[in-house]
Amino acid sequence: MVQSQWPYWLPLRGDLRNISPYGAPQIEGVVALNTNENPFPLPSEVVAAMSERLTAVIADLNRYPDRDATTLRAKLAHYISQGTGVPLGVENIWAANGSNEILQTLFLACGGVEALALGFTPSYSVHPLIAQITKTPWFAGSRDEEFGINVANAKKLIREKSPQLVFVTTPNNPSGTSTSIADLKELAEATGSVGGLLIVDEAYAEFSDVPSAVTLLADFPHVVVVRTMSKAFAFAGARTGYLVGKPAIVNAALITRLPYHLSSLTQAAAEVALEFTPAMQGEIELLISERERVASAIAEVGYRTLPSSANFLLFSGFAGEPSVIWQAFLDRGILIRDIGLRGFLRVTIGTPAENEQFIAALREIAE
Ligand SMILES: Cc1ncc(COP(=O)(O)O)c(C=O)c1O
Repeated sequence: MVQSQWPYWLPLRGDLRNISPYGAPQIEGVVALNTNENPFPLPSEVVAAMSERLTAVIADLNRYPDRDATTLRAKLAHYISQGTGVPLGVENIWAANGSNEILQTLFLACGGVEALALGFTPSYSVHPLIAQITKTPWFAGSRDEEFGINVANAKKLIREKSPQLVFVTTPNNPSGTSTSIADLKELAEATGSVGGLLIVDEAYAEFSDVPSAVTLLADFPHVVVVRTMSKAFAFAGARTGYLVGKPAIVNAALITRLPYHLSSLTQAAAEVALEFTPAMQGEIELLISERERVASAIAEVGYRTLPSSANFLLFSGFAGEPSVIWQAFLDRGILIRDIGLRGFLRVTIGTPAENEQFIAALREIAE
């Protein structure tokens, strides 16, 4: 909601006066398929182990946390190394309260009034939002009709604009579509040639078969990969995101992070989650097969989905405004996402039972 009238005594920045706080509706008592969360609660063995670890940490809450989150970062390095085959150490990882905070830390380090950030839209709307808050000029490059990035055009744009920060989200939110590693490599080359940083936002990587941009780090020091535990780890409430990159990028993040930004509780909980990685990620395969089932149901009613490598689907082909169809789902107890994209709506993959409810509502609405 935009505040129409700020109080006269509040010296709020002029450029922030017309911005709305970011956020999707949070509505009680509905099937929430609107924020790309993982619908499965933590396995009971993880709850037990985490409770025990947190109880021990609570007694020490009089002390500040490990400012450098060294143990957590070592575990994240191990996790990413195992998944990608790329050797990494604690010096390659920085962790924060969700990947949004990582993005902000990078903007604070390399953005600002004299910089330029470039992205390919439609994509994750928080990238331009943080650009605005950090006073970083933003240039919105486009995607093609299938929400892919035309690499030749993108390279030309990068050379023309010489941005300090280039953002690629893959799998992309809201489309779910992926950028291949060959294309990312070309974008990395172009970004490097103008002295910029290529930030690859891989929030949904674990749902995808496409190789991670982490595999580019050896050849391209200016590539930084942003990841989160919110999605595949089903850990959104704990707020843990991280970046993978060269030590110089981590050192730059150390300058712009707040002191003691990551609480002892968050660090301990995330460490336990990583120790239980297979259990925490136990539902990924099910979510992928459910994604395909929901996609088929959407196709059966005559709507269209884009090929998704994430835990959500963007669909189109319905008659009427997205806001009207969104309301029709809500009237049936299903909260999906109107991302403000003409002709499209996005649905997160839920539990099989939640997906059934979505499909039942879909069939009614499409009739
Ligand atoms: C592409 C993308 N990046 C980053 C995030 C932020 O995730 P978090 O701050 O929970 O780590 C999201 C969340 O939906 C996302 O879709």
